[in-house]
Amino acid sequence: MGSPTLINLEEIIGNIKNDSKNDIVRIITYPFIDLNIFYKRMEALLEKGIRAIILDGKVQIGRYYVMGKGTNSIVLKGLYKDNIIVIKLLRLDASRNSLSFEAEVLKKIYNSYLHHKLVPEIIDHTEWMIILEYLDGVSIFDFLNDDIFYLDKAEISRALYLTLYKAFLLDKIYIDHGELSRPKSHILYVEPDYDPVFIDFESARYKESPKNFSSIIQAIFVRHPSSEYLRDIYNLNLEKIRRYIYIYNKSRSEETVNYILTKIFNL
Ligand SMILES: Nc1ncnc2c1ncn2[C@@H]1O[C@H](COP(=O)(O)OP(=O)(O)OP(=O)(O)O)[C@@H](O)[C@H]1O
Ligand SMILES: [Mg+2]
Repeated sequence: MGSPTLINLEEIIGNIKNDSKNDIVRIITYPFIDLNIFYKRMEALLEKGIRAIILDGKVQIGRYYVMGKGTNSIVLKGLYKDNIIVIKLLRLDASRNSLSFEAEVLKKIYNSYLHHKLVPEIIDHTEWMIILEYLDGVSIFDFLNDDIFYLDKAEISRALYLTLYKAFLLDKIYIDHGELSRPKSHILYVEPDYDPVFIDFESARYKESPKNFSSIIQAIFVRHPSSEYLRDIYNLNLEKIRRYIYIYNKSRSEETVNYILTKIFNL
């Protein structure tokens, strides 16, 4: 990972001709180098109040780093007024022609639960970009791989309890995230208390019986490399987990969820 590079938008718009900037054009119009679209996007970002992009993250493109490169988007940090924010940009070769559905789903979740933070706030969006609140957190994979070994049981329980409860809240509004069954990067545990927040609704769907709760209980207690350790400390086995999923699916009620979470976390 290189050091973060801050690119001031006004400066870059006036000074893009030389080759060293091609990497930046490619990041904005990925996977192509399209100067027309680059200028359009830059002007639009400026108009929205974005002052700079910050090239920083784990994914390398050319000589720079970004936060994410998915099948549909490139994800960057940026400066909006004086705040760090996240910008999701539609890739020019994306299989969808807009990010509008993802933005709609995020807004629906955010507005459905003003007292439980399930997703980052959307600051603005267009067909080809979403500007999101930046959340400083660790991915569920890293959280389970690393952080839990430094936390005490009460702290782990709080974070996992909230993860499963929030998954139930998502199920309740008929939104299926679609990518939660493998513990990767789709849940961020946000400092200081490791509050879980869902990100990347790129594959989300409206469904009669969403599988967020059952996917996550399996991701945590069955599929992650630390699952066996977690089953040990919560005195679980695969049979108990199957049974919890079964009774959850039968009623999908608040009462059932509370019963299951009380049993697991000994509340
Ligand atoms: N609101 C946010 N706050 C902090 N980091 C974020 C936020 N949103 C995304 N990220 C970071 O950026 C990475 C990529 O974002 P995301 O998972 O939404 O898109 P992607 O998988 O790269 O693209 P696609 O939409 O095509 O799936 C995440 O794994 C996470 O590290
Ligand atoms: Mg993705």
